[in-house]
Amino acid sequence: MKKSVTLTMLSIATTLIFLGSCKPKNTNNAVTGDAAAKAYVAPGKYDEFYNFVSGGFSGQMSVYGLPSGRLFRVIPVFSVDPEKGWGYSEETKPMLNTSHGFVPWDDLHHIELSQTAGEVNGKWAFANGNNTPRLARVDLKTFRTAEIIELPNSGGNHSSPFGTENSEYIVAGTRFSVPADDSNGDVPIDSYKENFKGHISFVSVDKETGAMDIAFQLKTPGVNFDLARSGKGKSHGWFFFSCYNTEQANTLLEVNASQKDKDFIMAVNWKKAEEYIKAGKGKKQKVRYAHNVYNEQTHTATSTIKTEVTVLDVAEFKDICYFIPCPKSPHGCDVDPTGEYIVGSGKLAALIPVFSFDKLQKAIANKTFDGDYSGIPVVKYEAALYGEVKKPGLGPLHTEFDGKGFAYTSMFVSSEIVKWNIKDLAVVDRAPTFYSVGHLCIPGGNTAKPFGKYLIAYNKITKDRYLPTGPELTQSAQIFDISGDKMQMILDFPTIGEPHYANAAPAELIKNNGQLKIYKIDENKHPFVAKGESEAKVTREGNKVHVYMTSVRSHFAPDNIEGVKMGDEVYFHITNLEQDWDVPHGFSIKGANNAELLIMPGETTTLKWIPDRVGIFPMYCTDFCSALHQEMQGYVRVSPAGSSVPLSFHVGKKPAATN
Ligand code: CUA
Repeated sequence: MKKSVTLTMLSIATTLIFLGSCKPKNTNNAVTGDAAAKAYVAPGKYDEFYNFVSGGFSGQMSVYGLPSGRLFRVIPVFSVDPEKGWGYSEETKPMLNTSHGFVPWDDLHHIELSQTAGEVNGKWAFANGNNTPRLARVDLKTFRTAEIIELPNSGGNHSSPFGTENSEYIVAGTRFSVPADDSNGDVPIDSYKENFKGHISFVSVDKETGAMDIAFQLKTPGVNFDLARSGKGKSHGWFFFSCYNTEQANTLLEVNASQKDKDFIMAVNWKKAEEYIKAGKGKKQKVRYAHNVYNEQTHTATSTIKTEVTVLDVAEFKDICYFIPCPKSPHGCDVDPTGEYIVGSGKLAALIPVFSFDKLQKAIANKTFDGDYSGIPVVKYEAALYGEVKKPGLGPLHTEFDGKGFAYTSMFVSSEIVKWNIKDLAVVDRAPTFYSVGHLCIPGGNTAKPFGKYLIAYNKITKDRYLPTGPELTQSAQIFDISGDKMQMILDFPTIGEPHYANAAPAELIKNNGQLKIYKIDENKHPFVAKGESEAKVTREGNKVHVYMTSVRSHFAPDNIEGVKMGDEVYFHITNLEQDWDVPHGFSIKGANNAELLIMPGETTTLKWIPDRVGIFPMYCTDFCSALHQEMQGYVRVSPAGSSVPLSFHVGKKPAATN
C-alpha cells in the first residue's frame, strides 16, 4: 500500500510539474461553482438515482442519492448493527449464522442489482461476503437483507456477486483455492498444486420471490479468481472471470504470483454446464453451509444447515471452459453493453487488452489453441484479441461503459480515470482522482443499458481532502458529469467503510417498485405478537419470562413488570402498534448485553435480557416518536432467585397476578 501511495504522489507531482503554469481543462482539483450547481439537489427535491455502495470492511451496504451524494441509509448486511438491532434481536440473529456458527462481521466488496433482459429491474441488490464466503440478497422494497447463503468449497468470496442478464444466476468465484470441503484438508500448504482447487458457485434466483439456491458449482484448476462479468446480448450464456496466481504460489504472492507475463481470463460456457447438470453429469458432494431466510410474515429469520452440493469438474468436459491469456495479473474483467467486447485490466500491465467475443468463438471452433493449462485449452492471445488500448496510464483496475461507445477505466497507480473509444481504442480524455481510485460506477454501467450521465470514482485514499480525523481517514467517492466530451468533477463526499464496487439505478424504478411503508398489523404472524394493548401480557415457562409488549405514542404496555427473578431469561417481544409511515419506536433496558431494538410500524421484534443483579431496571423508547417521547418509559423489578414476589404487570392500573 505504502509503495503505491508513494507512486501515486509521485505521479501527481509529475503531472503537476508537466502541466506547469498553463492549466488545461479537467485538471481542477477543486469543484468550481458551475460544477457544484450540477450536484445541487434543492432541499425537499429527490435525487435522480439511487447509488448502492459496498461498505468494504464495515460489512454493510450504503445508499446515496445521485448527484447530491446525500447518504440515505446504511443497510446492515453481514455485520451486526446496534443502531437497528441487526444481529442483536432474536429475529435477526439467524441471518448471521454460518457453518462456523454466528459470525458477526464480513467484508462486503461488490454490489449487483437484479436485471431483466440486461437492464436493471429495481427488485434486489446482491452483495458478497468476502471473508466467510456468503452471498446476500437485499430486498429493495424494504431496503433490508432478506436472504444470506453461505458458499461451500470457497475461501475469500471476491469474484462475486455477478449476475447473468436475467439474474438467472448470481455467480461467485473463490479468491483462494483451497482443498475441497469433503477432502482431508490437513495437508502441507506447499502441496498447493496437488491439493488446492478453485470453485465457482452458480446460485439460482427465483424470478418472483428472489429465493436463492446453489444450483451447481464448477470445480476448476487451483488459481485465484478476482472479478467476473457475464456475457450479455450475443454473449449471453457465457461468463468471464479474471484469474491471477496461475503460478499456483502459496507464499509471498506479490513476487511469486507476478512471475508470468500473462495470466488468464477464464471463459465459461455456462449454458453448456447447465446442460450437463440437467443430464445428471454433476457429482453430489457432502458439504455444510448455512442458508438464512428472513420471513416477512413472521418477521423472523430461520437458518438451515444444508449438506449437499452438485459439482461439475471442468477438466472432465472439454467444451465448458477456456483460458484466454491476459497481461499481467488481471483484476477487472468487464463486458461492454453489446456483449462483444471483453476488457481485461492487468494491474501490472502497461496496456488494456480488449477481446472480441466473435473472435473467441471462431478461435474455439477452429481450435486455435496454445496448448492447455491443467487440462483446459488456452486460446491463442492474438486469436481472441480485438486490440489493445496503448499507454492508458498506470495500474488499470476496472472499466465501466456509458452506452455511447465509450469505456472508462480506473488507474490506481496514476490516480486517474481514462476515457477511451471502444471501436478505435483511442484515449479521448483523462481526469485525475484524489486519490488512488479503485472501482468506478456509471448507473447501469455494467448492463446492456447504461445511463451515461454520471460516473462515480471510489477512492482508497483521501490524505489532504478533508479535515484531519487522527490516523484514520475516510475513503471517498467523486462524482463526474460525463454528459459532455470531457469528464467534469462535480462533487466529492466521504463514504461508509471502504467503498469497492457500487451500482446505481434510476430513482423512479426503485421508488415505484411497491416500497413497503408499514407492516400491516392484521397480517403479522409473529408467534409472540400482541395485536393490541388488550393482548399485552407477561408469562413464565420455567425460567423463561415472555413479555408480550406493545408500543404506541407514547407508552409501552405493560410499563411496570414485577416478579422477574435472578436466573430468569427475559424475552421482550415488542409490537409497534403504529400504522403510519415513519413512526418507529425503540426499546432498550439498562445493562442488556445487547443493542436497542428499532421496531417499524406493525412489526414485532424481540430483545433477550438476562438480569445480572437484583433491583429496579429502567427501560425506555430510543426513537424520538412524539412530543412525549421522553415519557415513554417503564420499570422492571428483579428479585432474588426463589423470591415469592408474584409475576405481575400493568400499565396505568393495579397489577394483575398471573401464572
Ligand atoms: Cu416511542 Cu420515543
